[in-house]
Amino acid sequence: MTDRLKTALPRIVAAVERLLAEQDLTYPELFSALLFLNEVGAAGEMVLLSDVLGLSSNVERRDSAGLGGTASNVEGPFWRAGAPRYATPADLVSAGEPGERLVISGQVTDAGTGEPLPGAEVDVWQTDAAGHYDHEDPALPEWHMRGVVVADDHGRYGVRVVKPLAYQVPTAGPVGRLLAAIGQHPWRPAHTHFMVSAPGHATLTTMAYYAGDPWLADDTIESVKPELVLDPKRAADGDWQVTFDLALRA
Ligand code: BEZ
Ligand code: FE
Repeated sequence: MTDRLKTALPRIVAAVERLLAEQDLTYPELFSALLFLNEVGAAGEMVLLSDVLGLSSNVERRDSAGLGGTASNVEGPFWRAGAPRYATPADLVSAGEPGERLVISGQVTDAGTGEPLPGAEVDVWQTDAAGHYDHEDPALPEWHMRGVVVADDHGRYGVRVVKPLAYQVPTAGPVGRLLAAIGQHPWRPAHTHFMVSAPGHATLTTMAYYAGDPWLADDTIESVKPELVLDPKRAADGDWQVTFDLALRA
């Protein structure tokens, strides 16, 4: 057991015991809560549970407060290691794919000096225009709307995706049952996930959100930060375009 666990765990347990007493929680209620957590674990939904309870965002905000650089955001449950790598600019949209097109581009820099970070890796993942991640729709090819874009010699990157739409977190499993039981909606505003890395710098995990989305003020995981809300503009070729610069802490 680490020292941190030895110090923190008894205090967390004591605080939980106080709350359980305050709510008059019975032993059968505790037991059914534990069986529920077993189910959540078996379904691989522990991260999802923490996210929809707002715990992930709460801890992430506190963790990252005042650190500088581009604002971070929670990872969510759906990042996958090993996405295909692309030289910039990357095009993740195949011909005939439904949905509008969005080109996100920007520069990866050092947050302290403003110097560009050539070769930085910008790992991007998001849903398709129907609000599905690749693993949620068997008709989608593997690695759909996922890619690692390698920035050029000036730290610049660009990636073309479908313009995402608002999205419902998975509701078919035990966390979905919980949401229904407590009357919490499952919606997240449209977003694109980023995990950005460069040698000698802290990896930045964040999300881009898009202005005008009706769920920005009511994200079921309470994760929207105003500085991460982008405002794409329609270009002459019909694609939407937006700039998202990414400043990494050394
Ligand atoms: C997501 O951004 O995809 C996500 C985040 C938290 C829970 C479920 C999904
Ligand atoms: Fe997501």
